[in-house]
Order: sequence, then structure tokens, then C-alpha cells
Amino acid sequence: SKTFTIAIDGPAAAGKGTLSRQIADEYGFHHLDTGLTYRAAAKALLDAGLPLDNEQVAEKMAREVELGDLERDILAKHEIGEAASKIAVMPAVRRALVEAQRRFSEKAPGTVIDGRDIGTVVCPDAPVKLYVTASPEVRARRRYEEIIGKGGTADFDAIFEDVKRRDERDMGRADSPLKPAEEAHLLDTSEMSIEAAFQAAKSIIDAAL
Ligand code: C5P
Repeated sequence: SKTFTIAIDGPAAAGKGTLSRQIADEYGFHHLDTGLTYRAAAKALLDAGLPLDNEQVAEKMAREVELGDLERDILAKHEIGEAASKIAVMPAVRRALVEAQRRFSEKAPGTVIDGRDIGTVVCPDAPVKLYVTASPEVRARRRYEEIIGKGGTADFDAIFEDVKRRDERDMGRADSPLKPAEEAHLLDTSEMSIEAAFQAAKSIIDAAL
């Protein structure tokens, strides 16, 4: 095909989002944060007062998600992330969202798609796959500092527990668990600045373009 896809996976709060946006800017590619698609389906259920444990109902909501109007700010709330990770274990929900994500991946001239299963399931033929990670302590610390930096209040221990619980759910599910694709380049950002992570990613991509 004429498009070039960069698949970026990794656990919550590893820095995938920032890195993906920087890469998309650098190469003039379209960017999709697939976490937002799970969040949008979850928010629609919560808003409608519908249960989070009915696969058929959740699939219907997933089919109605429009990739064009995913608003990061509205979907950022903690409860929505929790609900998203619950419906993300359902195969019918994943099938519906993966179809939409694959259509997005065909956009020219290229796409940067980030999530948990992009290199393994959504775009297994992507010419570049990155697995971005950092220790749970570092990820919790970054999330904590982000909240404090915005003038909010946060409890480090609660955030740390939350990061570990989310990892367990994402890595432990039967359908499309979070794991690096075989050909993925591992990028552990625990001791890297945002700029250093970007430069490391850029040299991997430049070698494949
Ligand atoms: O990345 P984000 O925190 O926005 O994702 C919310 C939840 O959606 C994740 O915890 C995960 O359970 C689910 N998800 C997924 N597959 C993806 C992206 C997100 O299962 N490709």
C-alpha cells in the first residue's frame, strides 16, 4: 500500500501519547490514540446509564464511535479510563473498534497509531513497531506530577496502585493482551527525557522509511 504505519504500544502513562503526537508532527502523519476509542464507547455507556458488563450493549456503543470527534479533554477522566479498560476485555467491543482503527491506518501519507495491541493485532504489518514502557513507579510519578503541575491534588500511593491494577487488566486479558510484538523496538523511557525518547524513536523510523 502507499501508506506508512507506525505502531506504538505500551502500558498506561508510559509517554506513548506525547511521543506519538511528536512523531506524527515530525513526519506529517495522521495520529490516532486508540485508547480514546475505548474511552468514547465507555463514556457513551456511562452517559446513557447503561451497564458496563453487557457485551452486546457495549458492542452497539462501540460501533457508533466516530473517530473524527474524539475529544481528549472530555475523555481524560479517571472513571472513563477505568470503564474503558473493563469493556476492552470484550471481544465484540474490540472487533468493532479494531475495524475502525484499521480503516484509519490506511490514510495517506502515513499514520501513527498508539494503543495496546497495534503491533500485535490492529496493524501486524506495520513497518515500524515501538513498545514504549517505563517502570510502574516512574509512570505513577509522572502522572502524579502532571496532576500537581495543573494545580490539582493527588495521592501518589493511590495512583501507583491504579497503574499496577491497569497493567494487570491490560496484560492479563485473554483477547489481545498488552505485550510487545516480536519485531517491536523496545523503548524504556524510565531514565529518558521526552526529547531523548523522541530522538531514539526518530532514528528507528528514519532507518525504516
Ligand atoms: O490508553 P488509555 O488509558 O486511554 O486506554 C484506556 C483503556 O483502553 C486501557 O486501559 C485499555 O484497557 C484499553 N485499550 C485497549 N486497547 C487499545 C487501547 C486502549 O484495550 N489499543
